[in-house]
Amino acid sequence: MSHHDERTFVMAKPDAVQRGLTGEIVTRLEERGLKLVGAKFMQIDQKLAEQHYGEHADKPFFDELVEFITSGPVMAMVWQGADATRQVRQMMGATDPADAAPGTIRGDYGLDLGQNIIHGSDHEDEGANEREIELFFDEDELVEYERSDEPWVY
Ligand code: PPS
Repeated sequence: MSHHDERTFVMAKPDAVQRGLTGEIVTRLEERGLKLVGAKFMQIDQKLAEQHYGEHADKPFFDELVEFITSGPVMAMVWQGADATRQVRQMMGATDPADAAPGTIRGDYGLDLGQNIIHGSDHEDEGANEREIELFFDEDELVEYERSDEPWVY
């Protein structure tokens, strides 16, 4: 990993899988120039959901959040690139799709606040990316490989 590279956790949520948007999410992140280093198509169980959303345990929508994220399979992913956490958050758009700008993933595909297609680590929460990666992936499930590091190859 070069100095400015970082890894971030991204998840296509159950609504994205049901609606056939998983590929679109992968395509957008690839085309942006981010590098896929890990992916797992999986069903999240209650325990993992509660761990993943632990910081929201006190929120009124917590039960709804856990119920939704365990309602069907998700695609958990790790993406790498310069400032990847912040870049992905920008590509996702605002949490509430009603506020998400057109051109963002939620702004183009979402209408519902809870079922908002994609999760990405919070760039304002220091270390959230590495914590979430660790929760979902063993280190040996992440693939180190070279791509041209010329800045114009993307
Ligand atoms: S907060 O309050 O700012 O910390 O919440 P936020 O970071 O915006 O959202 C945390 C996750 O909860 C989801 N969310 C909701 N789900 C259901 N109902 C309501 N009202 C609601 N508000 C927020 C939101 O999509 C976030 O999920 P992730 O997976 O982290 O994107």
